[in-house]
Parts: sequence; structure tokens; C-alpha cells
Amino acid sequence: MHALLTFSIPLLFSSLAWSGYLEPDQDVLIQDDWTDAGRVHSTGELELTFALKQQNTDLLERTLKLVSDPDSAQNGKHLTLEEVSSLVRPSELTQKVVRRWLQSHGVTNCLTVRTGDFLQCSMTAEVAETLLPGSRFHRYIRDDLSVVRSSAPYSVHDDVHQHLDFVGGLHRLPPKGQVLRKATPNRKQKWSRMGVHLGVTPSILRARYNLTATDVGTAQNNSQAVAQFLEQYYNPADLAEFMGMYGRNFKHFSKVDRVIGTQGAGKAGLEASLDVEYIMSTGANISTWVFTNQGRHETQEPFLQWMVLLSNMSDLPWVHTTSYGDDEDSLSTAYMMRINTEFMKAGVRGLSLLFASGDSGAGCKHLDKDQNTFRPSFPASSPYVTTVGGTSFKNPFKITDEITDYISGGGFSNVFKMPDYQASAVEGYLKTEAASLPPLSYFNTSGRAYPDLAALSDNYWVVINRVPVPWVSGTSASTPVVGGVLSLINDQRLLKGRPALGFLNPRLYKLKGQALFDVTEGCHLSCLDELVQGKGFCAAPSWDPVTGWGTPNYPALLAALLAE
Ligand SMILES: *[C@@H]1O[C@H](CO)[C@@H](O)[C@H](O)[C@H]1NC(C)=O
Ligand SMILES: *[C@@H]1O[C@H](CO)[C@@H](O)[C@H](O)[C@H]1NC(C)=O
Ligand SMILES: *[C@@H]1O[C@H](CO)[C@@H](O)[C@H](O)[C@H]1NC(C)=O
Ligand SMILES: *[C@@H]1O[C@H](CO)[C@@H](O)[C@H](O)[C@H]1NC(C)=O
Ligand SMILES: *[C@@H]1O[C@H](CO)[C@@H](O)[C@H](O)[C@H]1NC(C)=O
Repeated sequence: MHALLTFSIPLLFSSLAWSGYLEPDQDVLIQDDWTDAGRVHSTGELELTFALKQQNTDLLERTLKLVSDPDSAQNGKHLTLEEVSSLVRPSELTQKVVRRWLQSHGVTNCLTVRTGDFLQCSMTAEVAETLLPGSRFHRYIRDDLSVVRSSAPYSVHDDVHQHLDFVGGLHRLPPKGQVLRKATPNRKQKWSRMGVHLGVTPSILRARYNLTATDVGTAQNNSQAVAQFLEQYYNPADLAEFMGMYGRNFKHFSKVDRVIGTQGAGKAGLEASLDVEYIMSTGANISTWVFTNQGRHETQEPFLQWMVLLSNMSDLPWVHTTSYGDDEDSLSTAYMMRINTEFMKAGVRGLSLLFASGDSGAGCKHLDKDQNTFRPSFPASSPYVTTVGGTSFKNPFKITDEITDYISGGGFSNVFKMPDYQASAVEGYLKTEAASLPPLSYFNTSGRAYPDLAALSDNYWVVINRVPVPWVSGTSASTPVVGGVLSLINDQRLLKGRPALGFLNPRLYKLKGQALFDVTEGCHLSCLDELVQGKGFCAAPSWDPVTGWGTPNYPALLAALLAE
């Protein structure tokens, strides 16, 4: 016990001492689609993730602004993982207090990360329930998926409270797939009767976004990644068949270079296949990684596991696309703030993180009798990621201008303040569209507004289980397409000895829509109530909270992003 005396705070960790909640606002309700399979036995092994308080997060944020601002002398001066680590690594005191606390409960089987700010520890359910007063671990089952979570909020000892952001593995449940098959039988019948049916394929996308056959990757060192958090996997044979059918007119790879995580057994998933097939046909001939099912253990949160992994790998692809999203109001502020810091850590390293804006338009939350409000989604609402919305062709039979896809997620965060880079664009929209905006009680004009840009999200062809499947829709389709385009631009930058794009938004908003096809028509969906009648925001000239700045015109965007 002697080492403890070097600290002035008491470190007895008696179970009689006070404890407090770390995430008092975290939704602990388990949705009905999960079946409670009973309390976990006291000897059952759990694996929990402790997010230790970091240092210098203000400096991290300022550094991110400098390295991603095209007008700054620091632009492109990205940090290595080692440099990020020396910036944010928790203080000696924090590290020691947390370790002592764990040790005093017999928890010694822990892994850490290169930045020292996460600890991943194994322990029995009995130990976890004493360590985290309030927690009660149950096993929950949905389809083939079995997870262990606590149905009640947890607290931590007062002495460690200030040294932790949150503990992962207690509450947040794996998401459900977002991909939609949204053709109504009527629409399908009508179109197939007419014999003309323009589904989105790589050549349609390449034509619309002005990619020529020679617009493919050539840099030795370029790479891109998709991250998947569902219990599903892409099948290499499907990818090869997809490329054989749709990749004849441009040079491409037909194999994923690296799979990080475990590829499950069973059937290939639509979402997993979609991501891989489309990032590899837009970002063609570019080395591609797949991060898949990082939650190796029943108590792990797959998305958090991915973030932990990024903090532990020094060599990573430049562009990452993901479709994960949760309602902001279901997540604790502490969790979102910390994950947002993790996004900053990625951004200062020059990584571009792209998130789908979601498939529920502005969303809807029922407040009380007759009162609704829109429902923003996280991480789409983080100011330090690039959020991608969705569009459809105006004329579904031709490669034409694009209009809003009514599912395209968009709106205003209730958690994150509006970042400087977008203030004038968003104010412009609010002013010009003032007369046609939804009632102000539905959204928060001081919040981070999204999406930032968009791409086609409607009516894709995907090969799954060796069969081409039509009518696949969702912003999980548009996100890898934009990811592939950014990878092609990175490729040209790397060939010229320039740094990768990194966190794109400051650059993107300075272009003021130049080099993007502005989407100005259509509204997305929202609450089905008398006041708004299912209508959320509407697209408009310049930036809007439905399609952002619009969709990429590749040669123009390349020129603009190579110019500075
Ligand atoms: C991080 O990587 C190191 C090896 O570089 C490994 O020893 C450690 O276990 C990893 N941490 C986690 C949480 O997986
Ligand atoms: C790109 O596509 C648009 C519309 O399809 C076209 O008008 C334009 O000339 C093309 N080329 C460039 C370099 O923008
Ligand atoms: C494809 O990429 C490789 C590098 O990975 C490069 O050597 C090759 O020239 C590229 N192919 C084309 C057609 O540009
Ligand atoms: C590839 O990237 C690594 C660091 O990520 C760098 O050390 C190496 O020089 C690069 N190689 C080329 C060919 O650019
Ligand atoms: C509106 O957003 C701000 C952050 O920009 C937040 O502080 C505030 O609580 C939000 N208001 C509501 C009603 O959620």
C-alpha cells in the first residue's frame, strides 16, 4: 500500500465509499427485439473497455483545425500516432489511480493501446458488478447474435470518477443493418413492364461523376477501408463476380488486401457486400482493407472496438467509410464527446473518416402528447467527420441531374455546437429558406448541421451469394462511393508528394460548392404529424441539411483539391 501514499487523495476503494454515475444520460433500455436469456453466471467472463481521461484535448482540437485548414501554414502537417500519443496520453496520476482501482478488485488482465487512453480488461461478472455498482449483466439474444449487457446503469468509485470518461461494454447494443430494399411492388412492376430500368452500377456512377477509364489509383502507397459493425461479412467470390460483371471498362482490383477482424461463417450480408463492391469500383485499383466484426467478445461494442483499434495501429488507410449510426438521444454525452475526440485523433493523423448520414431523413422523436421533434444521429452529427447524404436521379431512366433521396439523413445536432467552418453556409441556408423551414421547435439552429455532401443512394445493383440483386438503397451506398472518390484524389496528391486530404470539411466548405453538382430539389422525410406532415428539410441552392453541398464532379473536385 505504500505507493498509494504518494497521492494526496484517499485510495482505499472501500465498497462503502461514495460512487457516482459516469453516463447518467445513457439509454439503458433494451429494445424489444432482444430476448433476455437471463442473468450471467457470477463466473462468466466479461471484457470491458475503460476510456481514461485524456490530456490536452483543447490543443488536439486546435491542431486539427490548423492541419486541415488549407489557408494555414500547418496545413497537411499531420501527426504520427506517436505524436498523438504524447499529446493525449492520460496523466501518470490518472493511469495509476485507474490501475490501482482495478487491481484492488483483482482485475489485472488488461490490454492497453499505443495512446494509453483505453484499457481493455477481462474479469468475471461478479467482479464487474462490484467494480461498477448498479450494473447487472444479462445475456440478450437477437437472431444469431448473443451479447452481454447491463440492464441497469453503472457507477464508479468517487476516487476514479474524474479519471474516466466512460466504461464500454455495458449498454450500447450492436446496430441493425441500415440498407434498404425499398422498391414498392408497384414501382417494380411498372418499371419492369416498361423494360427500362436504370439501376445504379459502377459504370453509371463513373459516368455521372465524370470518371474516365483512366481515373483509377496508381500510387504505390494509397489505400482505403470500409468498417462494418454488423454480424455479416462480404464474400470474396461475390466481389470477384461483381467485378467480372460490372468492372469491364476500368482497371480495378477484385480482391480485398487486408481483413482486420473476423469474417464470420454463414451468409454474406447485403450491407457488407455493398460497401466493398462500391468503394472498390469508385476508388478503383486502390488497395482496400475491410474492418469487420471487431467485437470479438459478447461484451464488446463493435464500433468502440474499431475506435480502439485505430488508436493502436500506426499504419492505416487514408480513407475510412462506415455506415454505423445511433440516435443522439440514446447515447450519453460523455460517450459522444469522447468518441468525437477519437475522431480528432484520426483527423490530425491525416485520416478521412466518412459516415453515412442515415436513412430516416430528419428523424422523429415523440416528446409528449402531440409534441414531436427531429432526431439527429451520431456520429453523423460529429463536427469532425465528413457526413454523406443521398440522392436519386431526377429521371429514373437516364443519367440526369440528381434530386434529394427522401430517406437522406440530415439536420442539426443537439450535442455538438456548430463548427466555424460551416457557420456562414448554414446561416445562409437558414436565412434564404426562412419562409419554408420546419417549425423551430423541431430542430436546434445552434448545432452542427449535416450532411456535408452526398452521392446517389437509390436503386443499386449488388452481388450477394453469387446473385446480382437490384433495388438496394441507403446512405450506406453513397458513403463508399464518396470514399472512393476521395481516395482517387488522395492518389493524385500522393503522386505529387502532397499529404493526404485528412479531415476534409474545412476545405470542402471553403470551396462553397465549387466542383460539386448542387442538388436543389426535393425534401426528406420526418415526423408524421399534423404540423410537419412527414416533411423535414428541403434541398436548396448551395449548402442544405439534406444533401450538403451536393455530389462530386470528379475532374473539377480533383483540380480544386490539388490546387492548394
Ligand atoms: C495494441 O497493440 C499491441 C501491439 O502493438 C498489443 O500488444 C496490444 O494488446 C494491443 N491492444 C489492444 C487493446 O488490443
Ligand atoms: C462533367 O459532367 C457534367 C454533367 O454530366 C458535364 O456537363 C461536364 O462537362 C463534365 N466535365 C467536367 C470536366 O466537368
Ligand atoms: C494499379 O495500381 C498499381 C499500384 O498498386 C500500379 O502499379 C498500376 O500502374 C495501376 N494500374 C493502372 C492501370 O493505373
Ligand atoms: C509509404 O508510406 C510509408 C508510411 O506510411 C512511408 O514510410 C513510405 O515511404 C511510403 N512509400 C512510398 C512508396 O511512398
Ligand atoms: C441545442 O444545441 C446546443 C449545442 O449546440 C446544446 O447545448 C443545447 O442543449 C441544444 N438544445 C436542445 C434543446 O437540445
